[in-house]
Amino acid sequence: MTDRSLIDSRPAGPRFAPWLAKTNPFTSRNIAAASIPGLINLSGGMPDPSLLPAKALSAIAAQAILDYPDDCLGYGPTPGLADLRETVAQRFRARGVPAKAENVLITASGTQALDLLGKIFTTSGDTIACEIPSYAGAFDAWRPRNPTYRHLGLREGRDLAARMAGAAFTYMIPNFSNPTGYLVTLEERQKLLAAARVSGTPLVEDDPYGALFYDGEPLPTLLELASKGQENLDDCPIIHLGSLSKQLAPGMRVGWIIAAPETIRMLSTAKQASDMCSNGLAQRMAVKAMQTGLIEECHPRIIALYRARRNALCAAMARHIGDYVRWEVPAGGMFVWGTLLDTTVDVERLVDLGMQAGVLIGPGEPFDPLGIVPPSIRLSFTYCDEAKLDQGMARLAQTFKAMGVQPGARTYPATSPSLTS
Ligand SMILES: Cc1ncc(COP(=O)(O)O)c(C=O)c1O
Repeated sequence: MTDRSLIDSRPAGPRFAPWLAKTNPFTSRNIAAASIPGLINLSGGMPDPSLLPAKALSAIAAQAILDYPDDCLGYGPTPGLADLRETVAQRFRARGVPAKAENVLITASGTQALDLLGKIFTTSGDTIACEIPSYAGAFDAWRPRNPTYRHLGLREGRDLAARMAGAAFTYMIPNFSNPTGYLVTLEERQKLLAAARVSGTPLVEDDPYGALFYDGEPLPTLLELASKGQENLDDCPIIHLGSLSKQLAPGMRVGWIIAAPETIRMLSTAKQASDMCSNGLAQRMAVKAMQTGLIEECHPRIIALYRARRNALCAAMARHIGDYVRWEVPAGGMFVWGTLLDTTVDVERLVDLGMQAGVLIGPGEPFDPLGIVPPSIRLSFTYCDEAKLDQGMARLAQTFKAMGVQPGARTYPATSPSLTS
């Protein structure tokens, strides 16, 4: 017989915040997948391990601790080491941006920057304007703030100032967006900047992929366009995010935010309660990597390898899954975004069965908090070699077949009504 008094007096246990019930399983599945033997992982935006400059960075790290023990091993200033803030500012000045150290906040890479932006700009229910789909990690970072999202409609030619009006901020990834790989054109960049100025809305430019261009020349960033004719960034509507993750080593967790001094002060206040200060050793390593030209030294190898892999993945897609998916070849970045021709396919099931068949792909859904994007998948080409990319696409084709998807079954409309309405 059950003793009711025991049950009734049992403590209720921890009560977790409601937003935790809404997290997406995508990131944790990616991390868990790394340990499955033989799995071809096309899901995460991971660097090829051969490109990490281990020898150079280990020498830099050892010397940095000896030369700057207090910077590396003691507490540091919340907004970042003065030398790194100045070195980052210098690199932007070389590109025509009138940045000073006071315009730079050092972060634990892009992820902390996104988190801090959510903290300083949003209270529950506020609107964030962005392209849908956009980076799932940004939506994850802002989920505790409970925002609502408004699709900007850049590619559909919407009135951008009207779409930005009243939003806490606008979020854009102009260079080779994650997940779509789309490169925002110069004309679109100018329209975005003009709309930010008209609407008075801060425009966050998230730029982890700017250096990863495989065709043609890089376009000016929104920050560079906004800097034209300006002596300082005091009235700049752009908040620019960058990091070492995609051009040097994501494990260093070094990134930066460039913005007006007032915004940097607010971010620093939010950061104080978040981490007190950034990792000093990683910051000292970043200063050295920038001052010695290590980043530029690594760049040509990264570009050559990723360009070849981008080409190999797109060729393998055409060979194996061209009857099931359509895509645009990205001019840079790490991802190819595929829209399923048959919109009745259950993408979650495709991902699960694909994983059982030995290939991990990313589902489109975590990139779309409004549920307006047709069934889609995201494929990363940076981590696996060309043979694996081909084998991965062959496995995915087998998975489509096993699910009974008809090749060439085109139920995808010419334009998605929900994106144009
Ligand atoms: C668009 C975008 N922003 C930010 C990040 C965060 O990366 P990190 O925290 O390594 O800088 C990523 C990572 O893939 C990304 O794709």
